Amino acid sequence: MGSIEQLTASLTEAVATLPTQGPINDEKRNAFYAAYENLRKQIETPIDAAVRVIFGGYDAIALKVAMDTQILNELAIAEGKPKSVIELSKPSGADPLLINRFLRVLAASGLVKETGEGEYAAVSLTGAFSDMSPLSKSAFHLLYGENPLAKLPQYLQKTNYKNPDDSWNGPFQFAEPTDLQYFEWIQQHSQHQEAFTTHMALQRMERGPNWFEFYPVEERLLATDKDTSKAFLVDLGGGVGHDLAAFAEKYPKLAPRLVLEDQEHVLADVDKQNFKLNPNIQRVPTDLFKPQSVKGAKTYYLRTVLHDWPDKQAKEILKNVYDAMSDDSVLILNENALPDQNVSGFQARIDLFMMSILSGIDRTFKQFYSLLEENGFKVLATYRPETLAPGAGTIFEAVKKH
Ligand SMILES: C[S@@+](CC[C@H](N)C(=O)[O-])C[C@H]1O[C@@H](n2cnc3c(N)ncnc32)[C@H](O)[C@@H]1O
Repeated sequence: MGSIEQLTASLTEAVATLPTQGPINDEKRNAFYAAYENLRKQIETPIDAAVRVIFGGYDAIALKVAMDTQILNELAIAEGKPKSVIELSKPSGADPLLINRFLRVLAASGLVKETGEGEYAAVSLTGAFSDMSPLSKSAFHLLYGENPLAKLPQYLQKTNYKNPDDSWNGPFQFAEPTDLQYFEWIQQHSQHQEAFTTHMALQRMERGPNWFEFYPVEERLLATDKDTSKAFLVDLGGGVGHDLAAFAEKYPKLAPRLVLEDQEHVLADVDKQNFKLNPNIQRVPTDLFKPQSVKGAKTYYLRTVLHDWPDKQAKEILKNVYDAMSDDSVLILNENALPDQNVSGFQARIDLFMMSILSGIDRTFKQFYSLLEENGFKVLATYRPETLAPGAGTIFEAVKKH
């Protein structure tokens, strides 16, 4: 269908007409991006590809500088009214010339609009990166990953390209530099801890169905729940409790038998969230690397906890769960399991983010099976929602082998 000229003409026309048709749903947008990416791959010259790949990181750095210097706040507050680089430099005291050099990059990537010489205005995306939006916390967290990521080639050269296998001795410690593991480090850097916690809670909002909507809880857990004196579900590394809050809404009678476990300072933030955690849910400060204090629960649930850790530490975490499980306990992992091949670009990049800050790994289906089977578990089944969304993962249902 059509020539490149026709395609260009229809896209140019779409730019003018599409915005009047209102928001476009995820499925349609993603289908368009996929088609666009395929087309790009077909027509791109080596020089175009080099420019796209090599200069991609510059956009992220320009965004970071603009966030650090309050520029995006200033533009968002002005609500589309143009501001000069002189005005925009005032809050940080930055050199206007310098600010202009970064704003040009942001204008090219569509995060702001250039309205005149040395003059910029907000576009609809600008506000998302201002302090007014919780998304800016996610951006802050993810942009921090650029530090160890940029030093990854140097780190890997030094380690003879060994896959990072220790969360206390990996790219993050090399880049920072520090002896602390990332979670220990953010505990000492409150802005990072706050950004991480907000990022996790945000990621869970409106991102596909809840796990208990596509995993048959009644049939697989409630039907075999014999000892009601024991906990029904322990959410290990459950953060500020967003998953348990949703679960308890569906099963309010189970609330006293639900246990939220995370680090003490994370649990201290539970009541600061914009959702209310059922007060009957128990909150137990926990260290993943110490023996599990809640023994014989019906369910041990870990959502995107293991991807934070390389096998060395994932094994220790699993052992502590294994030792606490009784014969009828069920381990539920809710993870973004990657397909064994054809991993999307987004997933492949997030995996490198996990490598950079945590020596973590986004495991494939096969890798999850091996990890569980090699550590005393038998995988009974896996479950997935009809449409996979980032954060709505794959459930691995496992029991003790012996
Ligand atoms: C990637 S987050 C997942 C949070 C939540 N399960 C979710 O999917 O939204 C990992 C969680 O593990 C917790 N964590 C990290 N190290 C821990 C440790 N040593 N002991 C207990 N929890 C830990 C973090 O505080 C964080 O809440």
